[in-house]
Amino acid sequence: MNATINTENKHFPVLLDELISIISPHYGGTFIDCTFGQGGYSKRILQNKRNKIIALDRDKDVIKKAENFKFKFGDKFKFFNLKFSEIDQIQLNKNSLKGIIFDLGYSTNQINDPEKGLSFFSKKKLNMRMGFNKYSADEVVNKLEPTDLYKVFKFFGEEKKSKIIANKIANYRRKKNIETQDLVSLINSVKKNNFKIHNATKIFQALRIFVNQEISELVNGLVKSFKILPIGGIMVVVTFNSIEDKIVKFFFNNYSKHQNDSRYFPSIKKKKLLFQLKNKKPIVPSIKEINQNNPSRSAKLRYGFKINNSNDFEELYAKFGNLLDIEKLGFNLWKNFY
Ligand SMILES: C[S@@+](CC[C@H](N)C(=O)[O-])C[C@H]1O[C@@H](n2cnc3c(N)ncnc32)[C@H](O)[C@@H]1O
Repeated sequence: MNATINTENKHFPVLLDELISIISPHYGGTFIDCTFGQGGYSKRILQNKRNKIIALDRDKDVIKKAENFKFKFGDKFKFFNLKFSEIDQIQLNKNSLKGIIFDLGYSTNQINDPEKGLSFFSKKKLNMRMGFNKYSADEVVNKLEPTDLYKVFKFFGEEKKSKIIANKIANYRRKKNIETQDLVSLINSVKKNNFKIHNATKIFQALRIFVNQEISELVNGLVKSFKILPIGGIMVVVTFNSIEDKIVKFFFNNYSKHQNDSRYFPSIKKKKLLFQLKNKKPIVPSIKEINQNNPSRSAKLRYGFKINNSNDFEELYAKFGNLLDIEKLGFNLWKNFY
């Protein structure tokens, strides 16, 4: 379940005060909010009259909210219904760009929308499409080869029972199309009751990542954002699961320190450093925030200041090549069913 929900079913922007204290010294320009959602971040940034926001979101259901912002903030606010991996399609005055912000995952409104089928409690067909998808979770669960399903569950969900669950799905779907509650029962039949997290959490996470191609979205979104950001600009990313965080951590850390700084080894060719980091460790929510909004406990905020230009992100693509390849297994569904 995503970290930006609470028991009152109201959307709480996670780590908002922390985000603002990091970016406010750089106020007086344009910020790109790559994950507009319910507009919590954008609204706070626009409270300072010197700022402008360019907001993106792949979900067409946030367009109405964005229109309200447009009405209120006029030409200080622009919205694009785009995936953030397409950020380079936006025309903008790069010189005034101060920062690019990502708050990954889903808003409470999305989790609560029965049509989106993100919740374990949905009584509908599986779906999980956030916008501009090639296939749904229904097609993944009911049509993907069991060996491919296994890889999706293992690498995107880190689910120990991936193989058994993939095989059970393959048997079950011969009799009937698997819907959300069928999948939850099937997972429950394989896993012992876990009182900390719902039994289906990991499998649902894996399906959401796969359906929305979240790994390639993130990797390409980070790289393209870096390229459009001027030197001195800030990138801030809030993640909600360990897979996202590994990617973001590598992105900032690998390009902000020399690999071979030990005085015991001869120096190899030093690569260009791309970021200056102020914090080595991620910023996490306070106990107070977690008490108000319990699922925020999994949020991690990382940020860096761009100090050099570069087109070389080979190491990032190589490091996560395995995950990017697993996402490509979805192309089989796309070819066969569209
Ligand atoms: C956690 S919510 C953001 C909440 C927002 N910061 C706020 O304060 O209201 C994440 C949003 O990002 C959007 N999103 C997720 N992946 C995306 C992508 N690849 N491209 C564009 N939007 C994306 C989702 O549709 C969702 O609306």
